Amino acid sequence: MLKGRSLVEPEDFSLEEMELLFSLAEKIEKDEKYLRESCRGRLLATLFFEPSTRTRLSFEAAMLRLGGSCLGFAEPGSSSAVKGESLADTIRMAASYADAIVMRNPKEGAALLASRYSTVPVINAGDGGHHHPTQTLTDLLTIKRLSGNIGNMTVGFCGDLKFGRTVHSLAKALARYKNISMVFISPEELVLPEYIKSILKKQNVQYIESENLEKSIGELDVLYMTRVQRERFFNEDDYIRLKDTYVLNSDRMAAGKEKLIVLHPLPRVNEISVEVDTDPRAAYFKQAKYGMYVRMALLSSILGAE
Ligand code: CP
Repeated sequence: MLKGRSLVEPEDFSLEEMELLFSLAEKIEKDEKYLRESCRGRLLATLFFEPSTRTRLSFEAAMLRLGGSCLGFAEPGSSSAVKGESLADTIRMAASYADAIVMRNPKEGAALLASRYSTVPVINAGDGGHHHPTQTLTDLLTIKRLSGNIGNMTVGFCGDLKFGRTVHSLAKALARYKNISMVFISPEELVLPEYIKSILKKQNVQYIESENLEKSIGELDVLYMTRVQRERFFNEDDYIRLKDTYVLNSDRMAAGKEKLIVLHPLPRVNEISVEVDTDPRAAYFKQAKYGMYVRMALLSSILGAE
């Protein structure tokens, strides 16, 4: 069903297609040998024009675990982009060497452009402050695994909601599920962009905006913490002023529900104290591992093995 398809933003896949990926990922989680040889002889190009730990390594681990191989670069300084090669030409080259391309790029819209020039599937691993659809698959799978289903819940997003591409992708994706309320907690300077709010309004999603984590935490079933991203600020003083606005610590967790699920796409800086890591409600490291399973499911599906 997904064979040969690109993934630029979460809506590129239907809810049924995402469910299929989640059930494949759950099978892989139960039996890590499942689909092990399904990408034997296939090549994945990972083109990272921005730093990454989880996304790049989990895609590469996924491909290697499926029996395939990887090539690519982890920073643009080692590619001919520094000589002035256009993204379109870089993509044409990668598409002629590999069977699929995973790309992270600081420019919004770069993944869409790449998908138009590529003859093989392109997976968006983050385009500036725009989207990060495989993080969304990871987040949804984690919510499904830990709470049994996706729906009938209140999800809070906290931190940098302006530049946070994982927030934009996840809010849009959750809007497609039944009875999800959202609470957007951020300083005034980092509120959710209007275009995401208008999508939520069109889909009749109930949401409120707040500047106060303490007041909202008790209402939440899922709390999605995010980092204030230094790399997206034009002015260092603004970053320094805003970076520690919200710090989730044990005192704040005390006001949360017993079954609260705390997620974070990671990396974290100061926004979650390390003392929270041992709280059973902290799910962010589990979430990162689910990311590898869902990327295995995705690669085997788009490369036509499943
Ligand atoms: N969540 C995420 O995208 O992490 P990396 O930046 O380490 O890939």
